[in-house]
Amino acid sequence: MEERGGDPWQPCMDTAVQLALRAGQIIRKAVMEEKCVSTKTSAADLVTETDHFVEDVLISSLKEKFPSHRFIGEESTSAGSKCILTESPTWIIDPIDGTCNFVHRFPPVAVSIGFAVNQELEFGVIYHCTEERLYTGRRGQGAFCNGQRLQVSNVTDISKALVLTEIGTKRDPATLKLFLSNMEKLLKLQTHGLRIIGSSTLSLCHLASGAADAYYQFGLHCWDLAAATVIIREAGGIVIDTSGGPLDIMSCRVVAAGTKELAMLIARELLTIDYGRDDET
Ligand code: IPD
Repeated sequence: MEERGGDPWQPCMDTAVQLALRAGQIIRKAVMEEKCVSTKTSAADLVTETDHFVEDVLISSLKEKFPSHRFIGEESTSAGSKCILTESPTWIIDPIDGTCNFVHRFPPVAVSIGFAVNQELEFGVIYHCTEERLYTGRRGQGAFCNGQRLQVSNVTDISKALVLTEIGTKRDPATLKLFLSNMEKLLKLQTHGLRIIGSSTLSLCHLASGAADAYYQFGLHCWDLAAATVIIREAGGIVIDTSGGPLDIMSCRVVAAGTKELAMLIARELLTIDYGRDDET
């Protein structure tokens, strides 16, 4: 494998950037041509032909270049592929994050490519396709958006925080009750605001850039978390489990914030919503 500047994974990251930009072109074209129809009947978990097409393009290009690597992709997992993180170099891919937005042509739509080796996240690339913003993070080397270094906010007090979350796909009464209780708890603590934009990866990028102060969610997946986690950590932020313990990207839950104080405070408030684990489906 070609090495540059002593970083063995730089060629992989360069490839991830090229592929994310290429995927972004495909997605923008599909939006312009109004080819955004969901092929799934579920009201809360949409998927389109473009999700499948982009994932095929990404994974087949990567397999050709890095034949010994492993791959976890949202659509391949839905189709029955195992979602297990081993020690091997592994690409963790969401071809379209914000599929519901994509279907409605609501702007936050992203491609997310994470990469882990020995179960450690090495780099993340997230491309906001409609606004052409490229977020990257390389472990130990910082996080950037279109070349500008990212820095999280330093807010520790929930009453000064803008908090982001996402709904998840369960709509049964018990889940909705817990989901709304969590929002109510944070609102009662006088948080400045709560936002749901329809893309967990882009919400996490807003946190990395300091435009939001915290994020929490139950029901997101490793392909929503992998790339974004590197970007946030490299921007100086904290990404943990909703219990307040270390992050487990297979556990379908997360709290992230610019400061440890804010992350822990939110984690203490949250009622758990059980979405199972990605590696047990
Ligand atoms: C989903 C979106 C959604 C979030 C889910 C994600 P998808 O990704 O980010 O807002 O609530 O947890 O899985 O299905 O659009 O790739």
